[in-house]
Amino acid sequence: MKTRKIRDLEVSAIGMGCMGFSHGYGKVPAESEAIEAIRAAYDEAGCTFFDTAETYGREQFYPGHNEELVGKAIEPFRKEVVLATKLHLHDQELSKEPLETLMRRHLQQSMQNLRTDYIDLYYLHRVNEAIAIEDIARIMGKFIDEGLIKGWGLSQVDVDLLDRAHRITPVTAVQNIYSMMERGCEKKIFPYCLENNIGVVPFSPIASGFLSGKVTTETKFEGDDVRKWVPQLSKENIVANQPIIDLLTTYAQKKQATNAQISLAWMLHKYPNVVPIPGSKNKGRILENLASADVELSEEEFASLEAALNQLEVHGHRGYVESEKKTFSNHWLKKE
Ligand SMILES: NC(=O)c1ccc[n+]([C@@H]2O[C@H](COP(=O)([O-])OP(=O)(O)OC[C@H]3O[C@@H](n4cnc5c(N)ncnc54)[C@H](OP(=O)(O)O)[C@@H]3O)[C@@H](O)[C@H]2O)c1
Repeated sequence: MKTRKIRDLEVSAIGMGCMGFSHGYGKVPAESEAIEAIRAAYDEAGCTFFDTAETYGREQFYPGHNEELVGKAIEPFRKEVVLATKLHLHDQELSKEPLETLMRRHLQQSMQNLRTDYIDLYYLHRVNEAIAIEDIARIMGKFIDEGLIKGWGLSQVDVDLLDRAHRITPVTAVQNIYSMMERGCEKKIFPYCLENNIGVVPFSPIASGFLSGKVTTETKFEGDDVRKWVPQLSKENIVANQPIIDLLTTYAQKKQATNAQISLAWMLHKYPNVVPIPGSKNKGRILENLASADVELSEEEFASLEAALNQLEVHGHRGYVESEKKTFSNHWLKKE
């Protein structure tokens, strides 16, 4: 497996998003199957970058479910991998104790769930307008000084907020949505991160499975599957976006790769500081996605793929923020 640097952290060029084993994509596999898949990612494909969050599991199970699962799965090789998790502060907690005490309590709970005494990369999952980002950055800096975390990051942020945070405590990585279907980060986030030695860790890099070509108008989304609310995956937009799949299929055939692999190889070629974290509940697909690191596009192939992609309109947006806002607030209201 090839490796990349995100600031001071060395990680496999493709990471693994573990959310789907607890949350967000409908029915989950048995725990033993999930653990086997996570271990196979490390043992068979050399993945050394695993992504979770304290909130994953909140709908089907409880917050912390996914961290516990990941902690159990990676325990035999914990020190060999870079473990990323995310802090989610919700409004009701903020008035109850000082921010640092609150953040420390969340971090300690995550470490306990993950069976570890340090987190490599600790993200703020969502910016809360009631808290100054400078205060969060200062406390993250303290955690780094104390050796509790190795680096910190932000998720779903714009460049102004990132800059404010980075000036206080240098940011290791930004985790924003990014794929061939959601290219907003190309305007400001990538240039800023390239200039400031910050890694970009795209979530939903296969556009929630769409870019694999396996999502069709017949696909049913069940349970807590967020794709029920994703406008890009409405039946009419699946049809309208078919030219993007056709384009990927052409390159996949030429390179003896899969559509999903081409979509990941495209971003690896485009940016040296990108490390996507595709998510799948299926061991075969996890290994397929990790093998994208070996699919190399020549300069010419990349340029023609990029030019063709630029000609195609993307119909509908991912709609992540809206749907997640709904589920986040529902959850916390239900709990309290
Ligand atoms: N920071 C944030 O706010 C945020 C938000 C969302 C996610 N995340 C993180 O980012 C990770 C990745 O996000 P994501 O899961 O939305 O990414 P994704 O890989 O774009 O989408 C996952 C979906 O695609 C399908 N899929 C994946 N690889 C496939 C392949 N090779 N062929 C066919 N289908 C494939 C999966 O289905 P199967 O499971 O059936 O294979 C799953 O339904 C998550 O696990 C989580 O750790 C972070």
